[in-house]
Amino acid sequence: MELSRREFIRAAGLSCIGIGAVTMGAGCFGSKNFVEETDRVLFLNSLENDLLKIIYLGSLASSSHNSQPWKIQQVSNNQFRIFVDTKKLLPAIDPHHRETILSIGAFLENAIVAGETFGYELSYSSENEGDIHSFYIDVFLNRLTGVKALPAGLLKRRSLRRNHLSIKIAEKYLDNTIETERVKFFPKNSQQSGIIEDLTLLATEHQTKNRRIMEELSEWIRWNSDEIKMHQDGLTPETMEISGFSGFWVRMFYDKSSVMTESFAESTIDSTNEQLSSYGGWLLISSIDNSYSELLKAGRSMEAMFIRAAENKLGFHIMSQILQEQETKKEFIRTLQLKEEPQFLIRLSHLDEYPEPVSPRRGLSKIIL
Ligand SMILES: Cc1cc2nc3c(=O)[nH]c(=O)nc-3n(C[C@H](O)[C@H](O)[C@H](O)COP(=O)(O)O)c2cc1C
Repeated sequence: MELSRREFIRAAGLSCIGIGAVTMGAGCFGSKNFVEETDRVLFLNSLENDLLKIIYLGSLASSSHNSQPWKIQQVSNNQFRIFVDTKKLLPAIDPHHRETILSIGAFLENAIVAGETFGYELSYSSENEGDIHSFYIDVFLNRLTGVKALPAGLLKRRSLRRNHLSIKIAEKYLDNTIETERVKFFPKNSQQSGIIEDLTLLATEHQTKNRRIMEELSEWIRWNSDEIKMHQDGLTPETMEISGFSGFWVRMFYDKSSVMTESFAESTIDSTNEQLSSYGGWLLISSIDNSYSELLKAGRSMEAMFIRAAENKLGFHIMSQILQEQETKKEFIRTLQLKEEPQFLIRLSHLDEYPEPVSPRRGLSKIIL
């Protein structure tokens, strides 16, 4: 049984686990989780006030393992507070909470962009930097005279791990997507992208052998519709892009223990190899240091570029393995002679088509205190 399952999954090409490489939505389960763009618009329009709309659009942001590590408190009609939901930390892959704060930065970016579309300029200040348990961000809504259109990419955006094309990305697309001086682009077949490919594979191999990391990952995969409905977060077969009969198979037969098998580790390495064989180039986002304020900026910058990539129909796949492993991170900084702290490595590519988002989100009642 073990052998046939292993062969089956390898043949199916279980896409995922750049550890944190996966995610399934709920569209295929008959119960809508407001994951597709039209559902998102309908839900947005049903919300009764601007503050709720801003918080909802914030919650559509990207987050590590789709952990959605945010909790929101409404302070007044024009102020809300973002806390870290410390039940959603990822101690095995993210012991210093770097990715958690990057994810909070992504939420903040979405909220700021959303604010402008409802006629507000959002400003923010943070307290208790460096202490994940007491850290919070106060966000203030200041009235603007005009409004901007909501960028379509905010609602369309989704992580894409498969079907990246190895086509050179034209300058105009890069100019439209890349936003700050802290971002570098390395096209496929450059010396730097070769180094990134080798180190990503090495880091993935390390991670698949690390029991704590695999156990943590298993806690964040929602294999079937009941788990998705219950948690409304995490990584799912659909977000891992396991479709057709393979999708049916894993939904029926997979559970936490499947993630701890050798065949799962092998399929993870296989799919990482496949991902590394086809893409346009790598985006590298850096920051001055690892202070929370710099991490928030890097998270904001990533989300802003993600939105623009979606508008340009570019596949955008964050691959964090190198930066999660001390050894590969050190080697990466050394060989690329980086002067700044690397925060995101993103596979960026042209696609034949940009599919609908599929990743579940927790309802507002679960994130608003
Ligand atoms: C800090 C951070 C690290 C991430 N690392 C990875 C990764 O290593 N591999 C991956 O496939 N996705 C990674 N992601 C993407 C998330 O898995 C994805 O955003 C989440 O599952 C929600 O899906 P969505 O982007 O389609 O809404 C990362 C996202 C963030 C914010």
